[in-house]
Amino acid sequence: MHLILDRQELAKGNMVALTVEAPAIAAKIKPGQFVILRLNDTGERVPLTVALRDPQHGTITIIFQVLGKSTAMLGSLKIGDAIKDLVGPLGLADEFRKIGTIVGIGGGSGIAVLHHLLTGYAEAGNHLIGVIGAREKDFIILEDEMTTLCDRLLITTDDGSYGAHGLVTDALKSLVEEQIEIHLVIAVGPVVMMRAICQMTRLYKIPTLVSLNPIMVDGTGMCGACRVTVGGVTKFACVDGPHFDGHQVDFDELIQRNNMYTRDEKTSLLFSIRAG
Ligand code: NAD
Ligand code: FES
Repeated sequence: MHLILDRQELAKGNMVALTVEAPAIAAKIKPGQFVILRLNDTGERVPLTVALRDPQHGTITIIFQVLGKSTAMLGSLKIGDAIKDLVGPLGLADEFRKIGTIVGIGGGSGIAVLHHLLTGYAEAGNHLIGVIGAREKDFIILEDEMTTLCDRLLITTDDGSYGAHGLVTDALKSLVEEQIEIHLVIAVGPVVMMRAICQMTRLYKIPTLVSLNPIMVDGTGMCGACRVTVGGVTKFACVDGPHFDGHQVDFDELIQRNNMYTRDEKTSLLFSIRAG
């Protein structure tokens, strides 16, 4: 059992940050790796990338969007409640080396994952430009943390209520038009966002790393649920990723596979709400 030590609501309560007691994971996990949790014996296995780690206090923080039945149940937990199983660290850790100027782009709840990943690249001495975007002001998360971490931060909102009016791709375009030499783009967020970024960076010839979040079940490469095609080759995001060369990813296939259970998830959430 893993005790919940802190709980914060972000983005109008649509996102929740839980700090959980997990000393063994906190001691080992690297930015970008993830955990799979289960709330109870019959619960769904939920993969979540860790947003913060504190090895000294033996805690990890997960930030997630309340989307389906399991994340709604997770979001309803309070300080003092516990998560039954927590498995990790899972996935490959990135090799954090000095690359030069890195533009890290986070959309919506993807900002939490981006922030943790960028801490690894900051420690390696890179020059970091952050771009974070959300549909409106209240959905921008971790602005203070990103301001501290990055040498420069650009913020966009779809409705223009905060930062620049537009999408994160507009901010990327403005950076390219400033003729900044960008050595790497890292994109974390909705698949359509990552696809749009990769379409742009392919034209600009900027290497691009994306963090993929396909459906996962076992997280150990056995079930095949997280299958993605990268460079024409089948990969399992849980053991071969979750970070891949974005120019090689078949995003259309990923979108199709991620949508396979959307209807079932909505029905399951509806039943759980009706059941109280
Ligand atoms: P959202 O749909 O509100 O989009 C967030 C931002 O992404 C937008 O403000 C915009 O700037 C950009 N964006 C979205 N679609 C775009 C497009 N077609 N072209 C260019 N830019 C675009 O995001 P949300 O509702 O907060 O959802 C967050 C998503 O991130 C979820 O789908 C979640 O599964 C995903 N996510 C992914 C990871 C990961 O590891 N890849 C981690 C956490 C969350
Ligand atoms: Fe089962 Fe990756 S989640 S193979």
